[in-house]
Amino acid sequence: MKNKIIITKDYKEMSEVVTKLFIKQLLEKPSTVWGLATGSTPVGLYERLGKRKDLDFSKSKSFNLDEYESLKPDDPQSYYYFMQEELFSKINISESNYFLPNGAAEDLVSECKNYDFLIKSNGGIDLQLLGIGTNGHVGFNEPSNKFSDGTHLVDLTDQTIKDNADKYFEGNTNLVPKRALSMGTMQIVKAKKIIILASGKNKAWAVSESIEGTVTPKVPASILQKHDDVTWIIDKAAASKLKNRNKLELTTKVL
Ligand code: F6R
Repeated sequence: MKNKIIITKDYKEMSEVVTKLFIKQLLEKPSTVWGLATGSTPVGLYERLGKRKDLDFSKSKSFNLDEYESLKPDDPQSYYYFMQEELFSKINISESNYFLPNGAAEDLVSECKNYDFLIKSNGGIDLQLLGIGTNGHVGFNEPSNKFSDGTHLVDLTDQTIKDNADKYFEGNTNLVPKRALSMGTMQIVKAKKIIILASGKNKAWAVSESIEGTVTPKVPASILQKHDDVTWIIDKAAASKLKNRNKLELTTKVL
């Protein structure tokens, strides 16, 4: 098992640990190409980075994992809007240096191809941040029979629509777009380093299957077992179903 696992007391400590690792990365490589995620999990990280006015993001670039189909960047439910609100408006990264797939593009197939090309032509992702869905999805790569490849259009599962409705659409599944553009799983694992966060009991199944289960596209995050530089930062609740939890907690102290 090559993945590093850091188990934290709670969400706050998880956010503090990942913030430290982000700052370390930025100081070591000011021109870092970040891969960023939306959702509730990274909000604590973004909040902390946003407060650190001493950090210089002017040389770095960023590519987000995904965006809902048909939502324009100025739509408050779009991931573009979310990223601006939570992070980009608070740090000194210029608008020309951050990218999300455009879910409102007329030709979504070309949009996906161009997005992959843009990532590649910028040297690839140095540090990819991930959250994990309750079903083990990463980005919007839902459980399936095959690991997806590049950026592509995805049909969201009922579970993901429900999870997102509860969090962001006042519980109304009718308001959640049913499709999204997402970096593919194999594209995600091209990143040089990956940090994946999970907090809360509802993530415990996905975390244990991804770390200790078989590598299978039925649990997309399980592909991370094959990557050389993955750090899981998970709180105790999210770690509660890991079989080797005690051993891992010991490892944590050594890290
Ligand atoms: C978001 C993304 C998703 C989320 C996942 C967890 O860009 O790629 O895979 O990371 O759905 O979402 P939260 O953090 O809201 O539990």
